[in-house]
Amino acid sequence: MCHPGKDEICVRNKFVGVNATDVNMTKGRYFVSGKVPFGIGIEGVGEIVEVGENVENLKVGANIAYMHSGRSAYAEYLCMPTTDIFPIPDAIPDYVALLLSGLTAAISLDKGAHITAGDTVLITAAAGGTGHVAVQWAKSVGCHVIGTCSSEEKEKMLKCLGCDRVINYKNEDLGEVLAKEYPKGVNVIWETIGGRIFEECLKNLATRGRLLIVGGISGYKTENKEIFTKLDLSNLPEQLLFKSAAVQGFFLPAYAECKTPYFNYLKENFETGKLKIVYDNGEKTTGTEFFGVEDIIKAVEHLHCGRNIGKVIVRMA
Ligand SMILES: NC(=O)c1ccc[n+]([C@@H]2O[C@H](COP(=O)([O-])OP(=O)(O)OC[C@H]3O[C@@H](n4cnc5c(N)ncnc54)[C@H](OP(=O)(O)O)[C@@H]3O)[C@@H](O)[C@H]2O)c1
Repeated sequence: MCHPGKDEICVRNKFVGVNATDVNMTKGRYFVSGKVPFGIGIEGVGEIVEVGENVENLKVGANIAYMHSGRSAYAEYLCMPTTDIFPIPDAIPDYVALLLSGLTAAISLDKGAHITAGDTVLITAAAGGTGHVAVQWAKSVGCHVIGTCSSEEKEKMLKCLGCDRVINYKNEDLGEVLAKEYPKGVNVIWETIGGRIFEECLKNLATRGRLLIVGGISGYKTENKEIFTKLDLSNLPEQLLFKSAAVQGFFLPAYAECKTPYFNYLKENFETGKLKIVYDNGEKTTGTEFFGVEDIIKAVEHLHCGRNIGKVIVRMA
């Protein structure tokens, strides 16, 4: 067990969250230089077991959710500063999904894409940890929501969450469905895949549409240092000009001031049953619960094989 500095706390992890971007960190693409040793794992929930002498507002025994890039959340105990820490009633896995995933989903749709009631919104990887919150966020605003996924179980889950049109891209061609069923195009596209999916999305953007680049998972497993699969975007200015459309990036660290108010809002929605959290601890999808530091690698592989349904979490204690 570590001991906190004067302005730090020490937490005993109960559950940690696995994220698509973990592999970008292990590749040294962001948050860390890539020189070993460095910590990975961004978020978790647990109990405070020790506080530094200058810490007044947090007490031993309190349950918290936290998010810290560059520290190792993949640990039994970890010390951290008191920023980006959110008090929670119980250290249950659902709260993990409100951190990087929930905050990204809600803040990107509100502050990045500026969704409004009546917009048609396409959510890629809709049944994943971030996507399933994005689907519900857009529905709660009054949007028509299209979600993409790759299996029948995920289709069922998305329909239960209120997704208006689910496209299982293993059975249907995304570009063809969009062109046929949404001939005027899609107002907002929340894009996390990259490559061919990005191209299809761009083609099907509506006049004055917004395509938000939130990730590019199809490129994360490649050996090179780039995050995104290379594309020929030589006619991008023309495509955007004639549609008065926008392509914009979204990266959560740029919205630091939104984290606390949005976490509180997500927490309230979860606690009052308005937001359903689906998490995947391996039990239903692999037969065994992910448990302990040794299982982190299995959980990361599980996510990157696209088998996860909802937020991937690992029990630590
Ligand atoms: N910009 C930010 O600040 C920020 C913050 C958090 C997350 N993100 C991004 O949001 C996306 C989702 O992240 P997450 O952690 O919530 O993961 P996740 O959605 O829980 O899991 C990834 C999902 O992506 C889908 N996928 C589609 N094509 C894939 C491919 N070629 N390889 C692997 N998976 C593929 C799979 O589901 P289906 O194939 O069934 O759709 C898979 O289940 C990622 O792109 C991530 O980088 C961005």
